[in-house]
Amino acid sequence: MGQTKFKEVYFVSSNSNKYREIVPILSHHGIISRFVKISLKEIQSESIYQIAKAKSASAFEYLQKTVIIEDDGFYISSLKGFPGQYSSFVYKTLGNQGLLKLMENETDRKAYFISVIAYNDGLALKTFTGKTEGTLSRSATNGGWGFDPIFVPKHTSKTYGELSQLNRKSVFSHRYKSIEKFSKWYIRILLDETH
Ligand code: IMP
Repeated sequence: MGQTKFKEVYFVSSNSNKYREIVPILSHHGIISRFVKISLKEIQSESIYQIAKAKSASAFEYLQKTVIIEDDGFYISSLKGFPGQYSSFVYKTLGNQGLLKLMENETDRKAYFISVIAYNDGLALKTFTGKTEGTLSRSATNGGWGFDPIFVPKHTSKTYGELSQLNRKSVFSHRYKSIEKFSKWYIRILLDETH
Protein backbone atom coordinates (compact mmCIF):
# COMPACT_ATOMS: atom_id res chain seq x y z
CA MET A 1 0.00 0.00 0.00
CA GLY A 2 1.52 3.34 -1.04
CA GLN A 3 1.37 6.62 0.78
CA THR A 4 -1.41 9.04 0.01
CA LYS A 5 -0.18 11.84 -2.27
CA PHE A 6 -1.67 15.07 -1.03
CA LYS A 7 -1.64 17.03 -4.25
CA GLU A 8 -2.22 20.73 -4.02
CA VAL A 9 -5.27 22.18 -5.58
CA TYR A 10 -5.36 25.81 -6.70
CA PHE A 11 -8.54 27.79 -6.09
CA VAL A 12 -8.73 30.50 -8.73
CA SER A 13 -11.09 33.41 -8.11
CA SER A 14 -11.23 37.17 -7.77
CA ASN A 15 -13.27 36.72 -4.59
CA SER A 16 -11.36 36.03 -1.38
CA ASN A 17 -14.64 35.59 0.56
CA LYS A 18 -15.26 32.37 -1.34
CA TYR A 19 -11.78 31.05 -0.50
CA ARG A 20 -12.15 32.02 3.19
CA GLU A 21 -15.31 29.88 3.31
CA ILE A 22 -13.93 26.84 1.50
CA VAL A 23 -10.51 26.57 3.16
CA PRO A 24 -11.75 25.01 6.43
CA ILE A 25 -13.73 22.40 4.48
CA LEU A 26 -10.79 21.44 2.25
CA SER A 27 -8.44 21.37 5.27
CA HIS A 28 -10.89 19.23 7.20
CA HIS A 29 -10.50 16.63 4.44
CA GLY A 30 -6.70 17.02 4.44
CA ILE A 31 -6.66 18.77 1.06
CA ILE A 32 -3.93 21.38 0.65
CA SER A 33 -5.07 24.42 -1.27
CA ARG A 34 -3.62 27.65 -2.58
CA PHE A 35 -5.51 30.77 -3.52
CA VAL A 36 -4.76 32.49 -6.83
CA LYS A 37 -6.57 35.82 -6.92
CA ILE A 38 -7.29 36.64 -10.53
CA SER A 39 -10.39 37.56 -12.45
CA LEU A 40 -11.17 34.97 -15.11
CA LYS A 41 -13.05 36.01 -18.21
CA GLU A 42 -16.62 34.68 -18.17
CA ILE A 43 -18.30 33.37 -21.30
CA GLN A 44 -21.89 34.43 -21.98
CA SER A 45 -24.15 31.46 -21.38
CA GLU A 46 -27.54 30.61 -19.94
CA SER A 47 -25.92 27.69 -18.16
CA ILE A 48 -23.97 28.15 -14.96
CA TYR A 49 -22.34 24.76 -15.72
CA GLN A 50 -21.04 25.92 -19.10
CA ILE A 51 -19.70 29.10 -17.47
CA ALA A 52 -18.02 27.08 -14.69
CA LYS A 53 -16.47 24.59 -17.14
CA ALA A 54 -15.12 27.35 -19.38
CA LYS A 55 -13.72 29.20 -16.37
CA SER A 56 -11.95 26.05 -15.15
CA ALA A 57 -10.40 25.59 -18.61
CA SER A 58 -9.06 29.19 -18.59
CA ALA A 59 -7.73 28.73 -15.06
CA PHE A 60 -5.94 25.52 -16.03
CA GLU A 61 -4.56 27.09 -19.18
CA TYR A 62 -3.22 30.01 -17.14
CA LEU A 63 -1.65 28.02 -14.28
CA GLN A 64 -0.95 24.58 -15.76
CA LYS A 65 -1.84 23.17 -12.32
CA THR A 66 -4.77 21.25 -10.88
CA VAL A 67 -7.43 23.91 -10.34
CA ILE A 68 -10.88 24.37 -8.93
CA ILE A 69 -13.08 27.37 -9.61
CA GLU A 70 -16.54 28.27 -8.40
CA ASP A 71 -19.44 29.88 -10.16
CA ASP A 72 -22.58 30.87 -8.28
CA GLY A 73 -26.07 31.93 -9.17
CA PHE A 74 -28.78 33.55 -7.05
CA TYR A 75 -32.31 32.87 -8.31
CA ILE A 76 -35.43 34.75 -7.19
CA SER A 77 -38.61 32.84 -7.93
CA SER A 78 -41.02 35.75 -8.53
CA LEU A 79 -38.45 37.41 -10.85
CA LYS A 80 -38.40 34.23 -12.97
CA GLY A 81 -34.94 33.29 -11.72
CA PHE A 82 -33.36 36.73 -12.04
CA PRO A 83 -30.49 37.56 -11.36
CA GLY A 84 -29.31 33.93 -11.89
CA GLN A 85 -25.99 33.82 -13.71
CA TYR A 86 -25.91 37.64 -13.74
CA SER A 87 -25.76 37.81 -9.92
CA SER A 88 -22.34 39.36 -9.73
CA PHE A 89 -23.27 42.17 -12.15
CA VAL A 90 -26.60 42.77 -10.40
CA TYR A 91 -24.92 42.92 -7.00
CA LYS A 92 -22.51 45.56 -8.31
CA THR A 93 -25.23 47.61 -9.97
CA LEU A 94 -28.56 47.22 -8.09
CA GLY A 95 -27.03 46.02 -4.83
CA ASN A 96 -29.00 44.58 -1.93
CA GLN A 97 -31.11 47.73 -1.44
CA GLY A 98 -31.99 47.78 -5.15
CA LEU A 99 -33.08 44.14 -5.08
CA LEU A 100 -35.16 44.69 -1.93
CA LYS A 101 -36.80 47.71 -3.58
CA LEU A 102 -37.60 45.62 -6.67
CA MET A 103 -39.24 43.03 -4.39
CA GLU A 104 -40.98 45.56 -2.10
CA ASN A 105 -44.58 44.55 -2.89
CA GLU A 106 -43.89 40.89 -3.60
CA THR A 107 -45.25 38.26 -1.23
CA ASP A 108 -43.60 35.28 -2.95
CA ARG A 109 -40.04 35.75 -1.63
CA LYS A 110 -38.66 32.32 -2.50
CA ALA A 111 -35.05 32.34 -3.68
CA TYR A 112 -32.14 29.95 -3.92
CA PHE A 113 -28.39 29.87 -4.36
CA ILE A 114 -26.47 27.44 -6.56
CA SER A 115 -22.75 26.85 -6.31
CA VAL A 116 -20.94 24.96 -9.04
CA ILE A 117 -17.38 23.88 -8.33
CA ALA A 118 -15.46 22.89 -11.47
CA TYR A 119 -12.32 20.78 -11.12
CA ASN A 120 -9.83 20.72 -13.97
CA ASP A 121 -6.46 18.94 -14.05
CA GLY A 122 -5.96 19.25 -17.80
CA LEU A 123 -7.35 15.74 -18.41
CA ALA A 124 -10.44 15.48 -16.23
CA LEU A 125 -13.08 18.17 -15.90
CA LYS A 126 -15.74 17.54 -13.30
CA THR A 127 -18.46 19.65 -11.68
CA PHE A 128 -20.02 19.49 -8.21
CA THR A 129 -23.21 21.30 -7.25
CA GLY A 130 -24.63 22.70 -4.04
CA LYS A 131 -28.07 24.25 -3.75
CA THR A 132 -29.66 26.08 -0.81
CA GLU A 133 -33.28 27.19 -0.87
CA GLY A 134 -34.68 30.00 1.21
CA THR A 135 -36.32 33.41 1.04
CA LEU A 136 -35.42 37.02 0.48
CA SER A 137 -35.61 39.01 3.73
CA ARG A 138 -37.62 42.25 4.02
CA SER A 139 -34.58 44.24 5.06
CA ALA A 140 -30.81 43.83 5.05
CA THR A 141 -29.02 42.62 8.17
CA ASN A 142 -25.37 42.99 9.12
CA GLY A 143 -22.70 40.44 8.41
CA GLY A 144 -21.27 38.49 5.52
CA TRP A 145 -20.72 39.65 1.95
CA GLY A 146 -22.66 39.85 -1.32
CA PHE A 147 -26.29 38.86 -0.86
CA ASP A 148 -25.61 37.40 2.62
CA PRO A 149 -27.51 40.20 4.41
CA ILE A 150 -30.76 39.54 2.47
CA PHE A 151 -30.94 35.76 2.13
CA VAL A 152 -32.62 33.56 4.76
CA PRO A 153 -31.97 29.85 4.15
CA LYS A 154 -34.68 27.29 4.95
CA HIS A 155 -34.82 25.91 8.51
CA THR A 156 -33.65 29.12 10.20
CA SER A 157 -34.92 32.68 10.62
CA LYS A 158 -31.47 34.21 10.31
CA THR A 159 -29.85 35.59 7.16
CA TYR A 160 -26.58 34.21 5.77
CA GLY A 161 -25.11 37.48 7.08
CA GLU A 162 -26.23 36.86 10.67
CA LEU A 163 -25.26 33.18 10.43
CA SER A 164 -21.85 34.23 9.17
CA GLN A 165 -21.37 36.42 12.25
CA LEU A 166 -22.19 33.37 14.39
CA ASN A 167 -19.83 31.17 12.35
CA ARG A 168 -22.86 29.09 11.28
CA LYS A 169 -23.23 29.93 7.59
CA SER A 170 -21.56 26.65 6.61
CA VAL A 171 -24.40 24.66 8.23
CA PHE A 172 -26.69 25.93 5.45
CA SER A 173 -24.34 27.13 2.72
CA HIS A 174 -24.63 26.18 -0.97
CA ARG A 175 -20.84 26.50 -1.13
CA TYR A 176 -20.35 24.08 1.76
CA LYS A 177 -22.44 21.47 -0.09
CA SER A 178 -20.54 21.71 -3.39
CA ILE A 179 -17.08 21.79 -1.83
CA GLU A 180 -17.93 18.91 0.49
CA LYS A 181 -18.98 16.82 -2.56
CA PHE A 182 -15.78 17.78 -4.36
CA SER A 183 -13.60 16.98 -1.31
CA LYS A 184 -15.08 13.51 -0.87
CA TRP A 185 -14.54 12.72 -4.56
CA TYR A 186 -11.00 14.15 -4.60
CA ILE A 187 -9.88 12.22 -1.52
CA ARG A 188 -11.29 9.07 -3.12
CA ILE A 189 -9.28 9.49 -6.35
CA LEU A 190 -6.11 10.32 -4.39
CA LEU A 191 -6.54 7.15 -2.37
CA ASP A 192 -7.24 5.07 -5.50
CA GLU A 193 -4.07 6.44 -7.16
CA THR A 194 -1.92 5.28 -4.26
CA HIS A 195 -3.17 1.70 -4.14
P1 IMP B 1 -19.93 34.59 -9.12
O1 IMP B 1 -20.41 34.95 -10.49
O2 IMP B 1 -19.60 33.16 -8.95
O3 IMP B 1 -18.84 35.51 -8.61
O4 IMP B 1 -21.12 34.79 -8.08
C1 IMP B 1 -22.20 35.59 -8.32
C2 IMP B 1 -22.54 36.55 -7.21
O5 IMP B 1 -23.44 35.90 -6.32
C3 IMP B 1 -21.40 37.02 -6.33
O6 IMP B 1 -20.70 38.09 -6.86
C4 IMP B 1 -22.14 37.42 -5.08
O7 IMP B 1 -22.66 38.72 -5.20
C5 IMP B 1 -23.26 36.41 -5.04
N1 IMP B 1 -22.94 35.30 -4.15
C6 IMP B 1 -22.43 34.09 -4.46
N2 IMP B 1 -22.28 33.34 -3.36
C7 IMP B 1 -22.69 34.10 -2.34
C8 IMP B 1 -22.75 33.88 -0.94
O8 IMP B 1 -22.38 32.84 -0.39
N3 IMP B 1 -23.22 34.90 -0.23
C9 IMP B 1 -23.63 36.08 -0.77
N4 IMP B 1 -23.59 36.35 -2.06
C10 IMP B 1 -23.11 35.35 -2.85
